[in-house]
Amino acid sequence: MKRISLFTICFVIFIASWVFLRFVVGGFISVPIPSSVIAMYMALIFVAILVHVSVEDTRFSEFIRPIHETLVDENRKTRRIVLAVLIPILMLGYTYTNIAQKAIPAGDPRVAHPVPPSEFILTYKEKEIGTMQEVENPYRHYEKDSPEEFKSHIENGRRVYYDNCFYCHGDHLDGQGHLAHGFQPLPANFQDPGIIPNFQEAFFFWRISKGGPGLPNNGTPWNSAMPVWEEILTEEEIWDVILFLSHYTGYSYRPSGEAH
Ligand code: HEC
Repeated sequence: MKRISLFTICFVIFIASWVFLRFVVGGFISVPIPSSVIAMYMALIFVAILVHVSVEDTRFSEFIRPIHETLVDENRKTRRIVLAVLIPILMLGYTYTNIAQKAIPAGDPRVAHPVPPSEFILTYKEKEIGTMQEVENPYRHYEKDSPEEFKSHIENGRRVYYDNCFYCHGDHLDGQGHLAHGFQPLPANFQDPGIIPNFQEAFFFWRISKGGPGLPNNGTPWNSAMPVWEEILTEEEIWDVILFLSHYTGYSYRPSGEAH
């Protein structure tokens, strides 16, 4: 049996890496990865392959042998012709899909702030906290009862925010984080006066704990990059970051118990 050439192995590894990043990591495991991030990984993988094949002279000549043969061997004429036709067609197709005007759908069918079903029970992981209507931030009462205690929760919330959230939601909570523009929909802008005052703290708890994957189906397509924070943060950390969001922006949440 003919040995599979090193070139073919590298080529297959390269393509398989792309498929893995695009469909396995960015599909089954997480939400889709922005194409610019995939391009970055692919560039790294490309360099890694080059390093691997070029550490030894023999390996390098084995690697480039098929390329060399294709370019100069008499009996590889058909292969050359096929490539000479195929490569420009692929480039043309790529360029075309990039510059062609995309049909922009009239209006985004996505519901901006999906309301969970009424009687929705708020949970942290499997633990039930209460109905969305009634649940209050358990540390909110310190604002009046114990300013010192309240301050320590705000500070904890600030730490949680700048450890986890500012990449997307921005240094100033305005949705302008350095990763923000890779995402569609864009990360929420908490400085927008239409956000915090319209929602109960329990709603934010729900959105933060369950993230994009926890969204209901009523507003598809949902490609929200918002992570599932209950897998990373404690219940208290989530309530604290909620306190921090309103403290920093100066907006108050909609009081609990009010109908939507
Ligand atoms: C990887 C980027 C990313 C990170 C990190 C991130 N978010 Fe988000 N977040 C988003 C995106 C995108 C949306 C908008 C889509 C949606 O509503 O799910 C969003 C939406 C939200 C919403 C819903 C707001 C609304 O108006 O409905 C809240 C609340 C929120 N994020 C809080 C947080 C908090 C708190 C953290 C840190 C613990 C955080 N996010 C970290 C991307 C991110």
